[in-house]
Amino acid sequence: MSNLYVCDHPLVKHKLTLMRQKTTPAGMFRELVNEITQLLVHAATADLPLKEISGETPLAPFDGEQLVDRVGLVPILRAGLGMVQPALALIPNARVLHIGLFRNEETLQPVYYYDKLPSPPTVDIALVVDPMLATGGSVRAAIARLKETGIKRIRFIGMIAAPEGVEALHAEHPDVDIHLAGLDSHLDENGYIVPGLGDAGDRQFMT
Ligand code: PRP
Ligand code: URA
Repeated sequence: MSNLYVCDHPLVKHKLTLMRQKTTPAGMFRELVNEITQLLVHAATADLPLKEISGETPLAPFDGEQLVDRVGLVPILRAGLGMVQPALALIPNARVLHIGLFRNEETLQPVYYYDKLPSPPTVDIALVVDPMLATGGSVRAAIARLKETGIKRIRFIGMIAAPEGVEALHAEHPDVDIHLAGLDSHLDENGYIVPGLGDAGDRQFMT
């Protein structure tokens, strides 16, 4: 799959290993979400277009560059929340568009509970962030909703995915690049990623 990027940076691998450990406490887990997100956002934005601008330092005029796009960050509540601050640390002018979705634990279908997305859109490119891509139902629904509002360029950034989720996301939204820290083996009978890291929301928020 040409638009699937699984980060092979040693720091990401090291940090992901720490995150998976069941003994890792919530504070450290959140810190690792933060650090890995920065590394993934760095990679996922490496090809964003720039435009030339001129400015003035305290000493002299200079020719510089700035991002062309208005970037939107789209955390899928609630587990995606932990990825917002590290992404904003790199792209402070990004607009944050929240989408509330949870997975019905029996049917595994996404259930919508919040969205206040402007239409027409106020961003040129959306970075959808959610640590876990399991069946892909939540991310597919979020991306379909973003497209409905008119956003054409969308990328997904997550920590861990199951192959089933990646395939389903790619089949429905082949135009969406998928950036991950790890691609795991499979889903279990409850729709959890194996080996995964458990429930990313519960581990961040101690619920
Ligand atoms: C988790 C995760 C994704 C979704 C992935 O959220 O953060 O949003 O499950 O599963 P899927 O690919 O099968 O849709 P969850 O529903 O647990 O809600 P939470 O973020 O509120 O914990
Ligand atoms: N959501 C999670 O938080 N973890 C999984 O393994 C699957 C869905």
